[in-house]
Parts: sequence; structure tokens; C-alpha cells
Amino acid sequence: MRVISGIKPTGNLHLGNYLGAIKQWVGMQAQIEAAGGESMYFIADLHGLTEWIEPQALHANTFEIAAAMIASGIDPKRSILFNQTRVPAHSELSWLLNNVARVGWLNRMTQFKDKAGKNREGASVGLYDYPVLMAADVLLYSATHVPVGEDQKQHLELARDIAAKFNQDYGVELLVQPAPLVSKAAPRIMSLRDAGSKMSKSNPSDAARINLVDDDDAIAQKFRKAKTDPEPLGETFESLKDRPEARNLVTIFAALSDRTPDDVVAEYAGQGFGSFKPALADLAVAKLGPIRDEMVRLTPDRPAVDAILREGADRAAALAAPLLRRVQETMGLLV
Ligand code: TYM
Repeated sequence: MRVISGIKPTGNLHLGNYLGAIKQWVGMQAQIEAAGGESMYFIADLHGLTEWIEPQALHANTFEIAAAMIASGIDPKRSILFNQTRVPAHSELSWLLNNVARVGWLNRMTQFKDKAGKNREGASVGLYDYPVLMAADVLLYSATHVPVGEDQKQHLELARDIAAKFNQDYGVELLVQPAPLVSKAAPRIMSLRDAGSKMSKSNPSDAARINLVDDDDAIAQKFRKAKTDPEPLGETFESLKDRPEARNLVTIFAALSDRTPDDVVAEYAGQGFGSFKPALADLAVAKLGPIRDEMVRLTPDRPAVDAILREGADRAAALAAPLLRRVQETMGLLV
């Protein structure tokens, strides 16, 4: 079992990233270790370049995300923690896989369509090619499992297609097809202002997301102001199927407390959001507060965080080198 996943350092790390990705990673750490496997988590700084970002912001976010991962419970002794740039094999394999991936496959990627919007011609080539670099990130380590939120599933299916085509074209069994592990508890946390769109780093409204750096008051206030409907909660989660805002808040409550959504709904059945929201705010403050405090303590200690990332990159580079070489040889390159 080899597990890998990454986060782009492009903005405010939020509750969706935590529940959909990081919390899952932390929960799996012991299990992977017991199975004699390897877990690898990285900051996808090269992916961060695919849309304009101020260099200082990219740099600062890289430290912040590393601090957030550690503060959330990713232990750099048990997991390999690094930033993508420091392992050049990601970029090298990405170029090689560019010749395996098909334009038609990339044209189907919904994230590109969403992000480029009407301005396709003005989007960067990097944004278009993004999923190939992401495929390289996981294929480079023969990763077996990739824990992500639902929005990344299509990219991982592409990684599987690239691996299969490479193996077929060259008549080898070299690249391992990774399985996406989409969080069951929180596959897609939605915006607090509009349950039709996902909670995201780039939403211009800060009230739409809970940032991991938000203080207790901000967390409470954002949940208090979260869009909901006037109806009380029903008896089952299923009864909320046409109430996306209610579903979202119950999902967040359940994921934060490691309970099932049905269990949470049953506890608050018949009650309105006037009582549910403060309970959710208290829970979120209790769970996220200690992570934030540790993150705020660690982030400014750049030398310490940097040392962890360097050590992780050295370990990752050593794992990456043999596969990159075999891919190059397989393709006929003189190495
Ligand atoms: P990124 O930085 O957008 O998000 C990091 C992780 O958080 C998950 N996520 C969510 N989960 C639930 N609800 C949400 N609202 C929500 N928003 C984000 C994402 O699914 C992701 O797991 N392309 C990736 C980074 C990446 C990567 C990789 C991931 C680069 N290479 C290789 C895995 C393997 C991304 O942009 O994630």
C-alpha cells in the first residue's frame, strides 16, 4: 500500500480541504504504517502556478500548508512530507506522460472547463496540462491509493487511463493504476453561502468558507450566518434530500464528530437551525481551534518547516528515481 496526495498552495486552506482530504490522511496514517506501507503528502506548488499567483503568496502559502498538515496530525516521521518542486522527477515524468495523454482526454476535464470559463484561449497551457502533472505525481511512486475529495476523481481516472495506455503502448506492466479514495464522510463540502457550489479557496466571499486560520469568533459567526431554510430538521438524513444547505451543515457536523449524518439528524430532529447552528459552531471551534493554534505557532518557524520539507523531498526523490529511469529506458531515451 502506497498512499499519496497533495494540496495546492493557492489560497485559504479551508474546512473542505480538511474534511475531504487532510482528516482522511491523518486517520489512515496508523493503518498504512501497520500494513508496512508508505504515506506521502505534498504541497503541489507547481500546480499552484497554473493560475496567476503572487510569488510571495505562493511562498507563504507553502509554509502555511505544511504547517496545517503537521498541525492536523500528519507526522513527518511516519509520512513523507515535501513540496513538489524539490522533487524534479515530477516535472520530468510529466513531460514524458504528455506524450501518452491525448488532447481529447484533457478536453473532457471539467476542472479546466470550470476554471477557464469563457476565457479558454487566455488560460495558461499549465492549467490545461494540469491533470498530466497530477498523473505524474501519483504514477511516479506507484501509488496504490490516493485519498482526495470528489472533485479530484476525474483527474485520477485520467491518471489510470494514462498508466494503462503507457503499459499497452510499450508492452510493459510498469505503471500502477492508482485507486481514488474519496472521503465517505465529506466527499464535497459546499459553500456556506450557496450550497450549489463547493467550498473553495478561491471564492471571493470569505463568508462562504471556514478557513483553517479563522479565529473562534469568525467560525461561530460564519456558521450563524450560513444560508439555511426556516424548516426544522427531519428524522433522517434522507429527509433532507431537497434541502442542500441543511444537508451540508449536517454533513459537516457528522464529519467533524465522526458520527453518521443519520445519527446527527436524529439528535436534532424537530429542532430548527437556531439550535443546530450554535452546536455546530461549538463543535467546529473545539475541533479546529487546537489545529489553528498549532498552525499559527508553526507557520512562522520557517526554518523548522523547511527542514521537514527538505528531508521529505530527499526521501521522495530516492523513491522516485528508479521508476523515472525505467520509464525513460522503456521509451528509448538514453539515460
Ligand atoms: P486542492 O488543493 O484543490 O484540494 C486539496 C484536497 O482537498 C479536497 N477538497 C475538498 N474536499 C471536500 N470538499 C471540498 N469543498 C473540497 N475542496 C477541496 C480536494 O479534493 C483535494 O483532495 N489537484 C489537487 C492537488 C494535487 C493532487 C495531486 C492530489 C496535485 N497533485 C496528486 C492528489 C494526488 C488539488 O488541486 O487539490
